[in-house]
Amino acid sequence: MKLAFLVLSMVCLDSLSSAQNRTRPWYDNAVIYEIYPRSFADTNGDGIGDLNGITAHLDYLKDLGVDAIWITPFFPSPNADFGYDVSDYVNVAPEYGTLQDWDNLVSSAKKRGIRVLVDFVVNHTSDQHAWFKESRSARDNPKRDWYVWKSGGGPTQPPTHWTSIFGGYTWTWDAATAQWYYHIFLPQQPDVNWASPGLRNAMFDVVRFWLNHGASGFRLDATPYLFEDPAFPEDPHPPQPGGPAALEPYNSGRPENHDVLRQMRKILEGYPGDPVLLGESSTATIQDLAKVYGEKHDEIQLPMDFLFGNLKTLDAAVFKKQVDAAQLELGGQTPVFFFSSHDHPRQWSTFGDGVNNDQIAKLTSALTLAQRGCVLMYYGEELGMGTMSLAQLEAVPIGPKRPRADDRDGERTPMQWDAGQNAGFGTGSPWLPVESSYRRYNVENEKADVGSIYSWYAKLLKLRHESAAFREGAYVALESGNRDVFVFGRKAGAKEIALVVLNTSPKQQIVSVTGISGAWPNFAHVLMASPAAKAPSSPHFTIGPYGVLITASFFPE
Ligand code: GLC
Repeated sequence: MKLAFLVLSMVCLDSLSSAQNRTRPWYDNAVIYEIYPRSFADTNGDGIGDLNGITAHLDYLKDLGVDAIWITPFFPSPNADFGYDVSDYVNVAPEYGTLQDWDNLVSSAKKRGIRVLVDFVVNHTSDQHAWFKESRSARDNPKRDWYVWKSGGGPTQPPTHWTSIFGGYTWTWDAATAQWYYHIFLPQQPDVNWASPGLRNAMFDVVRFWLNHGASGFRLDATPYLFEDPAFPEDPHPPQPGGPAALEPYNSGRPENHDVLRQMRKILEGYPGDPVLLGESSTATIQDLAKVYGEKHDEIQLPMDFLFGNLKTLDAAVFKKQVDAAQLELGGQTPVFFFSSHDHPRQWSTFGDGVNNDQIAKLTSALTLAQRGCVLMYYGEELGMGTMSLAQLEAVPIGPKRPRADDRDGERTPMQWDAGQNAGFGTGSPWLPVESSYRRYNVENEKADVGSIYSWYAKLLKLRHESAAFREGAYVALESGNRDVFVFGRKAGAKEIALVVLNTSPKQQIVSVTGISGAWPNFAHVLMASPAAKAPSSPHFTIGPYGVLITASFFPE
């Protein structure tokens, strides 16, 4: 009787989920692989990766199973912030190649079913951009209002005492026209003024340019900071010098942002193939994150969830809380999970305990890749690449290849392709040294080893494509009865329900699952497990240290 009820309710869910499937866009379940082009593969021996290096490895990415790649800035730039200070939005920096290389990369990727996203730095340009040069040339220059200029109280008195994310005040005095310009990041990164129609149109032309060149959308840099409070109030709680200065009510998450993002989304909608906006959209709360999708879900389709991405300790209870929020409190919109990036230390080092790192890498991969939603991977994550140590970093000279030191260099080391010279990155000495683990953790070794981190990732990505539960299944919040174990379900109608069990502790744990309505399904089929484990025949079972267990139950049609 109970089982009959379960099957019946699943049949109803099944028709609902197939109705939803027909309208689900590609990015709803996509794995987007972030590539730092300087460090991926160097084809011309100058020690700096290039676009052709990415093209040369597209088969690797296809075999791994990613749906799209996001390439961090490859535009001309003085590199005060490694490309996030753009001096020409519609060109390719010579060290990365040419526009033709870009076109070739996009068409080669499309042939393999891989989409390519451009990193669009929307909040600021380089101070070397022609727009800024014009803007700073005279107070009555037509581009003066493309940036944010204020007089303050003269050269010693900035308009406000707001603190920049990279330290110091957000204002730099420009003697030529005797005014201050605003920058939430470095002084070499002046903020553009989105309230200016001229600037806005010029930025939208950039969007059209890359869409016309085959981009499948954009990763939007620093989206919270597009506008400032027009009253420019004083900071009532000034941060300590050198302390963090993010997400202040006067300089982030302003209501004016919505209008810009809606307009940008409209432009995307005029292009085929469902182009997407992936937002670097930090928020203080899940409610604020929900607003980034737009009131009518007509703004950013994929705002990155920093509330999840900033978690730095392995704690099942904390993960469950954050994942439940992302899955259940975003109004059904697509959550975006990630751990590592060019700004975040690599997860193998963050979560590793020094003894069980490889098992922990498999565990953290399942924390993101078994979820409903979009998942971002960072190049080399699938190998267990680590963050380069400070000692190694300090030994690297500053020079033309490495124009300045950056405390994020540790997570930007060359991709580890093999155990040979420069880890197969290229023939020239790389701009950053290869991380010391490369002899063991590299593509060649790991592809040949069924127990490797790479093989685990490839299998998990395959599961996301092939199993209905992981491709389109709803998230089912469950309880494990144990604060060290995070359990959830993925349910694709009557056909398939999968169980995901994650032990974040170094000890074997006892689990007692509640939350599945009706009889306990027959989970006889183990889809993936590390360490090896049997499928649970009842809600009560054990799971090994840092264990991952993914099982499926199939119901008769
Ligand atoms: C974003 C980028 C980061 C950069 C900053 C300023 O946070 O991810 O790398 O430094 O914007 O552009």
